[in-house]
Amino acid sequence: MKRVAILISGGGSNMVALARSMTGDHPARPCLVLSNDPEAGGLARAAAMGIPTAAVDHRPFGGDRAAFEAELSRMLEEAAPDIIALAGFMRILTPAFTEGWRGRMLNIHPSLLPKYRGLHTHARAIAAGDAEAGCTVHEVTAELDGGPILGQARVPVLPGDTPETLAGLVLEQEHRLYPETLRRFAAGDRRRLDLTP
Ligand code: GRF
Repeated sequence: MKRVAILISGGGSNMVALARSMTGDHPARPCLVLSNDPEAGGLARAAAMGIPTAAVDHRPFGGDRAAFEAELSRMLEEAAPDIIALAGFMRILTPAFTEGWRGRMLNIHPSLLPKYRGLHTHARAIAAGDAEAGCTVHEVTAELDGGPILGQARVPVLPGDTPETLAGLVLEQEHRLYPETLRRFAAGDRRRLDLTP
C-alpha cells in the first residue's frame, strides 16, 4: 500500500476528492495533509476525515525557500510518504526540492498545459477566445507547470462564461481527473488519461 502526502494552501476540495477515492482496492492511502497556511480550510476538512494534518507557515521564513522547505521535509520524513500530491499548493518549490521527489510528486493545474502556466488561467483562456478549457495532472519537475503530463480533462468555453463560472466547471473535472490519475500512478501506470465531460 502506497502512502500519499497531500499538500494544500486553501479550501482543499481536491484533497477531499483524493482522500475519498483512496479506499477499497485503491493502491494508496493518505498519510498526511500538510499546508503552508495554518488557517487553510482544508486542514479542518482533512482532520474531520481522520487524516493526520500539519502546517508549516511560510511567512516567518520570508524569502528563504530553502529554510521553509527544510521544515517541510522534516514534517514529510515523519509521515514517510511514497507519493506527494500537490492539491492547490501555491508555493513554488525549488529545483533542489523537486529533484528530491522526481517521479514521486504530482500536481493539478487548472488549464490544458502547456497552455497557460501560472495564474489566472481561466481569464486567459476566455481572453484568447479559446473554445475549450480544462485541467491537467502532471509530474512535478523544476520547470513550473512543465512536468510530464499524466492526464487532462476538457470543458467547452461557452458564450457568457466568466473566469468564475469556468473555474467552477473545471473544478468539477479536477475532482474526477485527479483521483483517477493518482490511482493509476500509485499502481505504477503512467499512461496518459484523457477525460471528456
Ligand atoms: C484548483 O483549481 C487547483 O487546480 C489550483 O488551485 C485550486 C485549488 O482548489 N491549483 P482546492 O483548494 O483544491 O479547492
